[in-house]
Amino acid sequence: MRAYLILLGAPGAGKGTVAKRLVDRNGWIQISTGDMLREEIAKQSSLGLEAKSYMDQGNLVPDDLIIKMLKTHLEQGDNGVLLDGFPRTEEQAISLERIFSEMGVSLDSVVNLVVPEELLLARLGGRLVCKECKASFHKLFSPPKEVGVCDHCGGTLYQRSDDNPESIQQRLRVYHTSTKPLIDFYKDKSLLADIDGSRDAEEVYNDITALLEKRGN
Ligand code: AP5
Repeated sequence: MRAYLILLGAPGAGKGTVAKRLVDRNGWIQISTGDMLREEIAKQSSLGLEAKSYMDQGNLVPDDLIIKMLKTHLEQGDNGVLLDGFPRTEEQAISLERIFSEMGVSLDSVVNLVVPEELLLARLGGRLVCKECKASFHKLFSPPKEVGVCDHCGGTLYQRSDDNPESIQQRLRVYHTSTKPLIDFYKDKSLLADIDGSRDAEEVYNDITALLEKRGN
């Protein structure tokens, strides 16, 4: 079913992990502004070079750069779009409303993944990501079969440069000041549903699927 959805949640809440399952099984496209920025960095584009210093320090990349990058990708989602990591500020949320209205579509649901801070820290501290297919693993919670090698494509696993203790703390601070207020923003529009993101990834996926079915998405 065609749907326009947002996944909200703190760093490490499992947005990327559950987003992958949701898009694979529903034919939507996943728009992860974090992944898009990391691709720009790998290409050493001017946007990537500008974004890197913000990201490494755990700060947000300026809204105007993000919105420009997002617009072209949104138009490719004929069967629906799952936004992961966008919006992160009220300004971005308002821009998204404008873009959707220009496209003649509307936001269907916002899923907020709720995870206690202690678990967020454990997840981010042990995360490993595939350089090739971007699949996410965890040293303890979902280790790869072979150390340092992606189970899916054989690519090399690495630790993100912003998954260090200082950047993680800053990302959590930024989340509390800039992104958490979006919970009330979407609650006021009756679009928000909380999901317990602390459980097994498949259980989180099942809960979200049940919720979206109930809402007709
Ligand atoms: P981004 O890449 O979006 O990072 P983030 O929001 O900090 O979120 P993460 O990717 O860290 O966490 P996640 O919730 O996706 O968790 P994951 O599924 O990987 O952004 C990075 C930076 O880019 C920002 O700091 C900012 O600078 C910039 N940026 C991006 N978007 C922007 C925007 N819109 N505006 C401005 N700047 C922007 O899971 C984490 C770990 O936990 C993994 O190891 C995973 O295997 C494990 N795990 C996940 N779920 C489970 C589970 N249920 N059970 C067990 N383990 C699990």
